[in-house]
Amino acid sequence: MNDWEQLYQEGDTQWDKGESSPGLVDWLAEHGAKGDGRVLVPGCGFGHDVRAWANAGYDAVGYDLAPSAVAGAQKRTPKELEKATFRLGDFLGDTPFAQFDFVFEHTCFCAICPELRGDYASAVHEWLKSGGKFLAVHYMLPKDEDGPPFGVDREEIVERFSKHLELLSDWTPRSYPNREGLERMFLWEKA
Ligand SMILES: C[S@@+](CC[C@H](N)C(=O)[O-])C[C@H]1O[C@@H](n2cnc3c(N)ncnc32)[C@H](O)[C@@H]1O
Repeated sequence: MNDWEQLYQEGDTQWDKGESSPGLVDWLAEHGAKGDGRVLVPGCGFGHDVRAWANAGYDAVGYDLAPSAVAGAQKRTPKELEKATFRLGDFLGDTPFAQFDFVFEHTCFCAICPELRGDYASAVHEWLKSGGKFLAVHYMLPKDEDGPPFGVDREEIVERFSKHLELLSDWTPRSYPNREGLERMFLWEKA
């Protein structure tokens, strides 16, 4: 099990790109204009994606089990951006404090041990309202046991999440320069 808090305390946050996922930015520009509803961002880190959702008008909650991630996210969020909030917690283990219109995934799934992936898929289902959507940017590294990040392929993603959700679409998004061609986005709906 990775000690995320220790990594934050040591400043070893090489996953942090200092900006939100390009795939999310593009999706919000094309589909997010309505800007209503509540969004949960599990494993939010320093909160770049949470602020992107909030700037698009959504009530966005970042959820992370590392206290330093939550503190760092709060520090980076201007007070005026009241729609972006952050809470400390375990997405996989906690009972949902609310059900959301969206759950947004970005480098949380690849960060957890592969044996917890079934729990992750169940958690997405539990945190979503009926009719809620799961928008995911998956990091599609080759599968091996040497993580995090842990690799995954499209087949496994479809198999795991189809147990709980209906796949509406998936596509290759624009990515950070060093992740070009290594990401795939999925949009799912809970019945
Ligand atoms: C690789 S980092 C990615 C952070 C952020 N999404 C980003 O792209 O900058 C993974 C994050 O997931 C958090 N995390 C891991 N397991 C979690 C869990 N069960 N519940 C909530 N957060 C978790 C870690 O603390 C860490 O902040």
